[in-house]
Amino acid sequence: MNSIHSNSSPIGVFDSGYGGLTILNELRTQLPEYDFIYLGDNARAPYGSRSFELVYEFTLEAVRYLFSQGCELVILACNTASAKALRTIQQRILPIEFPNKRVLGVIRPSAEKIDGITQTNHIGVLATEGTVKSESYVLEIQKLFPEIVVHQHACPIWVSLIENGKHDTEAGKVFIQEDVKLLLEKDSEIDTIILGCTHYPILESYLKTIVPPHIQLIAQGPIVAESLKLYLNRHPWLDEKCAKNGTTRFLTTENKLVFDQKASQIVGYSIESEQIHLG
Ligand code: DGL
Repeated sequence: MNSIHSNSSPIGVFDSGYGGLTILNELRTQLPEYDFIYLGDNARAPYGSRSFELVYEFTLEAVRYLFSQGCELVILACNTASAKALRTIQQRILPIEFPNKRVLGVIRPSAEKIDGITQTNHIGVLATEGTVKSESYVLEIQKLFPEIVVHQHACPIWVSLIENGKHDTEAGKVFIQEDVKLLLEKDSEIDTIILGCTHYPILESYLKTIVPPHIQLIAQGPIVAESLKLYLNRHPWLDEKCAKNGTTRFLTTENKLVFDQKASQIVGYSIESEQIHLG
């Protein structure tokens, strides 16, 4: 059935800051015909050490904003928001206020893929404090693959380093090295590390120089993009609502010029964002 909303809805992609751009890049590569709206709550990042209540409140504000911009489907391209807010939004908000809209996260698709990647069945997860404390990765992976041993390590400084453009400095690299070392010290059989924060792939080329060569680093972008494709195939009623002009709008709660400069560097093309206010 045609409605006025048919084919007019961009897919919302939300992160606390710049990290979700690593997911958006892959979405644009694997689903080039779709329209996207990226929203970075840079002014309030990092979320990683914030309370459950605050991450939930901020994430819900962002989701509502993206819905108000015509999105029928929003991806929480943020592990911390996926860990702390996704389930409550899916169970308490959508059925009552937005029964035809959907919000998806990034943790479940990553957990589903992991058994095809590790050979030793010993994996590491680097993530924010919030994601680690939520135990979401441990719970999701053990539900699916009880034979896999999961070691987590929180990297409380990494998101701030990236948001402030300090990750390339010598001091920044010392923090990064130390966190990787602390994870790997937990178990010599780890052969796979999930970059369980969407900011971390921004560090991937540096991380590759400091982890032993037999360890695979898993960035979530390709996994999330593939999983979204399958999801849209399984939900043609939602897919029909998606606009397909290949456009992307960028929204930030930060000063737009600052965002444009840093985000353009991360994605490798020139971005012009709009500054919005949440809350
Ligand atoms: N990109 C977010 C994540 O995946 C970072 C959260 C934060 O702002 O600390 O967890």
